[in-house]
Amino acid sequence: MKVTFSAPGKITIFGEHAVVYGRPAIVGSIDKRIYVTMERRNDNCIKILAEDLSFKGLSIKIGDRIEVEANDRILEALKYIVKAIEIASEYINEKSGMNISISSEMPVGAGLGTSAAITVATLAAYSYILGHELSLNEIAKLGHTVELTVQGIASPMDTTISTFGGLIYLMPNVGFEQLSLNNELDLILGHVKRDESTAKMVKKVREIKERNEKIIEMIMSSIGAIAEEGKWAIIKGDVEKLGLLMNINHGLLESLGVSTKLINDMVYASRNVGAIGAKLTGAGGGGCIIALCPGRKKEVSLAIKLVGGNPMDFKLSMEGLKRHNTQLL
Ligand code: PMV
Repeated sequence: MKVTFSAPGKITIFGEHAVVYGRPAIVGSIDKRIYVTMERRNDNCIKILAEDLSFKGLSIKIGDRIEVEANDRILEALKYIVKAIEIASEYINEKSGMNISISSEMPVGAGLGTSAAITVATLAAYSYILGHELSLNEIAKLGHTVELTVQGIASPMDTTISTFGGLIYLMPNVGFEQLSLNNELDLILGHVKRDESTAKMVKKVREIKERNEKIIEMIMSSIGAIAEEGKWAIIKGDVEKLGLLMNINHGLLESLGVSTKLINDMVYASRNVGAIGAKLTGAGGGGCIIALCPGRKKEVSLAIKLVGGNPMDFKLSMEGLKRHNTQLL
């Protein structure tokens, strides 16, 4: 049997990093997805192919422990696949070798939630092929456990949005609500290479927080307040307010030390040609920005290019985790 599951990437409109400390966040799934195809093998080998992630291949034997010995930039993404298989095997109490191939419609490890998308699609495909159709709630929960294990610290934000899709207002430890937009938002992504992993950036913020507890707590609270106000701006369709809140959120992320010169260049270049809001999206240390630019997508794309970034047009999309073809071989 061969099956493909796909899961979407995401943009964080408000609240990255603060969500790790229990503050609310607003996050939306996008029309760029990760595809995970699995085929059951007759042995105990996990073979992973991910050519378009510039990773040629890896073969691992599963025994009681799965261990990867690869020294590649893509190792980061592989950790999530391996951990997802370990955790799914334990949960359904079954295991088998698999041929796995992964492809992506977006840059991996750039702050677009690709680790979460790889994780939830892997959990779903692996358990499905072994005869267990897990519910979305089960997958989101297991996905969070995978991220926690790999990263050490993680909020449920990315795994929730990648599983359920939509535009959600997330309150960690409470739940989430789906928001709806009156009109589509004109958004552009700007991408630059990111050298740091999400885990590293989250740890960096924790260190700053430990050394400046009172001040950083106030910054986290302010980011939480922005997400709360942002929710009302979305409900009312107040695009100007959304833009302003994005700009304030970016300033606060900058104060946490997670922005970079190139990220700031893209943010300012976008604003200079008419974006009403622009901010880092994701853990930072490079990666992506989002610019809210009604009627100015072309100008903003060009401005991002001129400062050395890669502009990407995209849309928010409602679609979460999805099963595609199932082939009985
Ligand atoms: O960079 P990404 O897409 O992995 O997003 C990380 C978001 C953080 O808030 C920084 C971490 C988390 O677990 O929520």
